[in-house]
Amino acid sequence: MWKGVIEEYRKFLPVSDKTPAVTLKEGNTPLIFACHISSLIGDDIEVYLKYEGLNPSGSFKDRGMTMAISKALEEGSKVVMCASTGNTSASAAAYSAKAGLKCVVLIPEGNIALGKLSQALIHGSKVIAIKGNFDDALELVKEITKKYPITLVNSLNPYRIEGQKTGSFEICDVLGDAPEFHAIPVGNAGNITAYWKGYKEYKAAGISRKLPRMLGFQAEGAAPIVLGHPVKEPKTIATAIKIGNPASWKQAEGARDESNGLIDMVSDDEILAAYKILASKEGVFVEPASATSVAGILKLAKKGFFKNVKGRIVCVLTGHGLKDPERAIASISKPVSLEPKTDAILEEIGL
Ligand code: F0G
Repeated sequence: MWKGVIEEYRKFLPVSDKTPAVTLKEGNTPLIFACHISSLIGDDIEVYLKYEGLNPSGSFKDRGMTMAISKALEEGSKVVMCASTGNTSASAAAYSAKAGLKCVVLIPEGNIALGKLSQALIHGSKVIAIKGNFDDALELVKEITKKYPITLVNSLNPYRIEGQKTGSFEICDVLGDAPEFHAIPVGNAGNITAYWKGYKEYKAAGISRKLPRMLGFQAEGAAPIVLGHPVKEPKTIATAIKIGNPASWKQAEGARDESNGLIDMVSDDEILAAYKILASKEGVFVEPASATSVAGILKLAKKGFFKNVKGRIVCVLTGHGLKDPERAIASISKPVSLEPKTDAILEEIGL
């Protein structure tokens, strides 16, 4: 049986026999060949989807949270805290419940998807909605965790990055090497930092032979790295990446530059178009922020970026579509309402 990322990749992680591994068996998510999207990108391109929505709390955060919570427990912490656009709080809440730690989460009021809020609440964490955005919440968490004996479990916590880098290991294990391109949404920029670290470590260990070009994508209304300055009031329907001043900004630029990659932005319309293609053509339901990686490569393909290019692109799909059911329902026409009669149904389906 799959043992969770700490046990599976122990020799690449800062853990010892004394580390109590708090796991919900995260990781081992499928890498799905995307037939339709590949055909939209280029003749010699294969697109794969790393479906991180299938982690225990429904997002990639679980890979980092198993590490952050295990280390917090090892170090004797009793309370953990994070700021979140939703997924970090859901994951922190679940792993804290498992570990018996108290968890406090700060969320931007009215700006997190319903599924994520329900998760943080049901796992028993203290949920505080602040009248501000994610960046304000993170500043408060940094200030409080500096002064009080509370462990910060945002991706500023280096153990989060360590755990999240296992996503790259899994991709290389399945493909036999790193892909040519790695496409990823960028919000607080922890995940692009983690994936790049993972690819480099696997190559250094001689397990993979190449490194991918990292293609990061932000939402147009929340694209500080693309614009080169913080965005005071970020705006996007992709609430998970509605961030104006990413904590790992410099590291994301490092991943971009070292890998000869790029960080670009996509509009909300492009995100929603990719969101619908993923669901209706590939059978993969993700939350809007996750579709940013696919929206990004579709945008690049239109500009001819993949012309005469051969290779594989892995798109990380960071969170499950059920996190944000309201967005799905708002994006598609409503179900038809009929009397419970066979004739009416047959007529409606054209029989
Ligand atoms: N996709 C989803 C679904 C996310 O929840 C996030 C970040 C990202 C992409 C971006 O990843 O921050 O490492 O660049 N969510 C954080 C949260 C900020 O609080 O849940 P990143």
